[in-house]
Amino acid sequence: MSEPRYRQLAQTFAKAIRTGRLPPGSRLPTHRAFAEEFGVALATATRVYRELERRGLVVGEAGRGTFVRDPDMPLTTGLRQDEGADSVDLMFNMPGNAGDADLLRQSLRKLASSGDLEAMLRYQPHGGRWHERRILAGYHTKAIGPVRAEDLLMTSGGQHGLSIVAMALLKPGDAVAVDALTYPGFRAVAELRGLELVPIATQQGVMDPDQLERRCQTRRLRAAYLMPTVHNPLGSVMDEAARQRIVTIARRHDLILIEDGAYGFLHPSAPPALSQLAPERTVYIGSFSKNLATGLRIGYVAGTEGFTDPLIAAIRASTWNVPALVSALVTGWIEDGTLAEKERHRRQDGAMRQRLCRDVLGDAVQGHPNAGFAWLPLPAGQRAAPIIAQLKQEGIAISGAEPFATTTAVPQALRLAFGGIDPDRLPGIFARIAAAVRSGGNSPPR
Ligand SMILES: Cc1ncc(COP(=O)(O)O)c(C=O)c1O
Repeated sequence: MSEPRYRQLAQTFAKAIRTGRLPPGSRLPTHRAFAEEFGVALATATRVYRELERRGLVVGEAGRGTFVRDPDMPLTTGLRQDEGADSVDLMFNMPGNAGDADLLRQSLRKLASSGDLEAMLRYQPHGGRWHERRILAGYHTKAIGPVRAEDLLMTSGGQHGLSIVAMALLKPGDAVAVDALTYPGFRAVAELRGLELVPIATQQGVMDPDQLERRCQTRRLRAAYLMPTVHNPLGSVMDEAARQRIVTIARRHDLILIEDGAYGFLHPSAPPALSQLAPERTVYIGSFSKNLATGLRIGYVAGTEGFTDPLIAAIRASTWNVPALVSALVTGWIEDGTLAEKERHRRQDGAMRQRLCRDVLGDAVQGHPNAGFAWLPLPAGQRAAPIIAQLKQEGIAISGAEPFATTTAVPQALRLAFGGIDPDRLPGIFARIAAAVRSGGNSPPR
């Protein structure tokens, strides 16, 4: 049977988009113009556009028309284009940005009429423009605790913050204590910089101070990398007593504390940050990826005066400065209350998703109550690999513990990142995961 006409046309356009002949941002003709051009009914033209939208290749913007998307960009719904429209990506934690394109459009317009545009075209001070550093310091002071603008440097995201810390404050061969399960981006930095990661067992999802102490007694550690407020991947929050003990150990053994706060906004009532308890030895890593948008590539490091010069040297050597276009947007959103509103919304949205997850997958799920990601340890005797393989066949891309594990024995668990997936689809997706887990990855093909 020959393919319906609408699908043939959609195929032709899909190819043109994937090969770059129709570049991202191109405006497609109106449905009517399309119908006339290709000699098809208006309804057929509408189906072509709907099909392209379903495949994530175009996006319709109310009142403006239909535009080609960048086919290399995952959809915020988590759809993976290479595996068909029914597949979902639960591997990467990409919060949804519904409606944010409009916010960006408005803010860019405001910026365009601000009279300071020429500055955007120039190199900036390595640590960021002073008035913007002050705004970031104000944000940090309110959320985390007092910091001077002089001790806060803008970075091109949290990952860049981790990289410059490794470049500036650590040297190849240094041993760094990390959680037995940690953020894979820090593992990547350590590998490139030649750092040795020393896994420390966790107690209720946070680094066990007793274990850290024992490790420090047997070998020289230079630093410890921690996520005390909303750990990735476990979602845990360290209580104040454990934080105090970590600080005491760090002082006793002269450790630098690298405190990663990428997800801290999910838990506004956290105990004092390590950077407050031990400002003389802590470098705090901030990021605007999870509370705003991953594509902005802006974050900051806040530390003690003694760290500032080497960190500035590392920014100079790596990126020179954060583009002023981006820092102007983000500081504007801090000042006009947009960021606070986004953070509130992300917490509510994460809480709704976390509930959907637990409704289906039950009490075994570990995760912060406001987070769009969770950790699912598997029942004893179960292995993650066949479950992951089965889910892959069903179009659900999911990760096990390997990317996060710093120990040689990798726990059998699934990591679920569902912050950017259409919530209507989540119960069905979680039900398929539950079935795959129940069968150990051997359920009959659907
Ligand atoms: C714990 C943690 N730290 C840092 C980062 C890096 O964030 P950014 O996108 O700002 O580089 C991430 C990103 O997933 C993260 O999960």
